Amino acid sequence: MTFWSYYVIALTVITLIASTWLLWVTSKKRGNNDTQSSTETTGHVWDGDLTEYNKPLPRWWINLFYLTIVFAIAYLIWYPSADKVEGKGNWSSRSQHDAEKAKADEKLKVLYARFDGKGIDAIAADPVALVTGSQIFSNNCAVCHGSNAAGGKGFPNLSDGIWKFSGEPEEILTTVPHGVNVPEGRQSVMPPMAPLLGSEQAITETAVYVQSLSGLKVDEALATAGGKLYAGVCAACHGADGKGMPLLGAPNLTDNDWLYGSSLEDIKYGLVNGRNGQMPAQLPLIGETEARLAAAYVYSLSQPKK
Ligand code: HEC
Ligand code: HEC
Repeated sequence: MTFWSYYVIALTVITLIASTWLLWVTSKKRGNNDTQSSTETTGHVWDGDLTEYNKPLPRWWINLFYLTIVFAIAYLIWYPSADKVEGKGNWSSRSQHDAEKAKADEKLKVLYARFDGKGIDAIAADPVALVTGSQIFSNNCAVCHGSNAAGGKGFPNLSDGIWKFSGEPEEILTTVPHGVNVPEGRQSVMPPMAPLLGSEQAITETAVYVQSLSGLKVDEALATAGGKLYAGVCAACHGADGKGMPLLGAPNLTDNDWLYGSSLEDIKYGLVNGRNGQMPAQLPLIGETEARLAAAYVYSLSQPKK
């Protein structure tokens, strides 16, 4: 049973006990006053002589209240609505949920059958598939990549045609099910570069050079010094021309599109601490067909509109 099951059970039991206790205490107070003809007043006086009787709740009303509590307890014995626990009615909220889900899955299976094993570029040409794909995206991917797939700091924009890995259909179909920088997933790690660069000055120079690569205005002297460091330390992954290596997930540094920001602080932070953005594998979460449909939707976003 989950935490929420216990939470609901506790809430129900406490409410029942509390209402019984409240009823019992108030009806006990009736004491010797237990007659409708009692003349005790609350002590409030209005307009000089208007007073208010303090009469106990009528017996029939209290008994009715007790009856509703008994009804609630009996109901819970028949229909416990506590996860897997089946009551006398042989019903549990879990089994009802499972049965309804099985029915829905059966329907989806028919809908999904036509997408099984198809390439995502083929699926992307199917308008019905794209609608389903966009719903799957909203439910599973938008938390990280944004509802319009435009991403955010550390979460790549999937709609702009710029890819860390290449945007080839097979690449997307590898990334989505298996994730990035998780066990079993594809790896794309930049280890901390500071030890290789040495001094704070060298880190600054290299970062400035990276800025210059995408045409940002920089101090030329710093950039020239950084260029030499870049060729020795960074080119192995980002390429001599800075255009990146999709195979390693090493991004193009010349396109003025930044996953982690273009400011000197952002770039230096990455060089000192390294970067290894993680995307959890989606296959265990949504299954093969839904992952394929989401991948097809993402692929369609980056294609030129016809
Ligand atoms: C081992 C390969 C490797 C080396 C060496 C390497 N990088 Fe990276 N770099 C990566 C990868 C992979 C990423 C993407 C990490 C991610 O997405 O989480 C990255 C990301 C970056 C980013 C972030 C880009 C953005 O869009 O925000 C910058 C800037 C960067 N590297 C600069 C450098 C510089 C400068 C050096 C040399 C000092 C360097 N890298 C060396 C692999 C490498
Ligand atoms: C928990 C956050 C998270 C979720 C959920 C998530 N992603 Fe990602 N995704 C990331 C991160 C972070 C990266 C970049 C990893 C890196 O830095 O190397 C990424 C990378 C990608 C890439 C590669 C982009 C490129 O430029 O090559 C694709 C494609 C992608 N995600 C698609 C999806 C789809 C489709 C879904 C939903 C089925 C999804 N993601 C769900 C965080 C997430």
